[in-house]
Amino acid sequence: MTAQQLIEDFRAFERSLALRAAMELDLFTRIGAGTGRIPVLASDSRVSQHGISVLCDYLTAQGHLIKQKGRYSLTPNSRKYLASSSPTFIGPAVRFLANNETVKAFCQLRERVKRGGSRTSANGSEWINFAHWMAPLARPVAESMAEVIVTTRGPVTVLDLAAGHGLYGLAVAARNPSAQIFALDSPPVLAVAAENARRAGVGKRWKRLPGDVFKTNFGRLYDLILAANLAHHFDETENIRLFAKCLAALKPGGQLVLVDFVPNPDRVSPVADASFALTMLATTKHGKVYTFKEYSSMLRAAGFSSVRRLDRWVIRSLSPKKIAHP
Ligand SMILES: C[S@@+](CC[C@H](N)C(=O)[O-])C[C@H]1O[C@@H](n2cnc3c(N)ncnc32)[C@H](O)[C@@H]1O
Repeated sequence: MTAQQLIEDFRAFERSLALRAAMELDLFTRIGAGTGRIPVLASDSRVSQHGISVLCDYLTAQGHLIKQKGRYSLTPNSRKYLASSSPTFIGPAVRFLANNETVKAFCQLRERVKRGGSRTSANGSEWINFAHWMAPLARPVAESMAEVIVTTRGPVTVLDLAAGHGLYGLAVAARNPSAQIFALDSPPVLAVAAENARRAGVGKRWKRLPGDVFKTNFGRLYDLILAANLAHHFDETENIRLFAKCLAALKPGGQLVLVDFVPNPDRVSPVADASFALTMLATTKHGKVYTFKEYSSMLRAAGFSSVRRLDRWVIRSLSPKKIAHP
């Protein structure tokens, strides 16, 4: 690594926050729609011409915009990912990933390293924002999960734990027209998921189960329980308790599917999964990323008999065929 690359790392937060500001100002969408001149961009966004021109020049220098004869336009990448007209628009995710709470948490990283975590975890309004802004990132993962786990078009009941935007349950509903989905999360988060369910046209096949994964009675037996990006918020003891509760709510032969960051045993690769451990340290009380071996041992401790990794993100464990339910 050169000194110059290191200096760019020192200032990396500027890159995220410039993208967040651009997203908050709808800048890429406006430029994509043909508003490429500073005076018009400034008056449309109700900001100073000096401010918007410095931001646009920065984004050009960083490779997100093109500037020719004083007019800005989108690069192929920013057209694909950062303009709201694109079907692969993921821009809003930066508003969650670089939100004030997370940035503040990272400003206190030294204390969190010392303590081994944060005093608090994400609050309700952060999860509402997550449900609004992270859905575009979740969609491809949810679809590939559904592709590997949905093997029947017959009637199945599915519990989508901590559903967030609801896209994981909805991806199962899309692949199996007889699947009935129960989505569990807090009421305001479920309101966001309900809007996604309405758009997906699943009708009465999607139902809300407002509550808390540890306290709320799951209400019935399920063929499939989904826990996407949930277990990394908890320590091993909490996860074993949660997995045991899931096992008790599964029909014999039913499956619990985890979708999560799963680093290699070295805990330093792949980069995204390994790096997520630091996000958990900075932003949660007890959250961690777990290796497949660690998930496997927590699932077995909870009573699951068969645990398999189906792809990079997806771990499936089966309930024993002859489990005795009360
Ligand atoms: C990281 S998001 C995951 C959402 C979605 N499953 C996904 O993978 O994108 C975590 C979600 O868990 C919910 N959550 C956290 N703790 C919970 C609990 N104890 N009971 C119910 N939901 C919880 C939050 O409201 C939030 O929607």
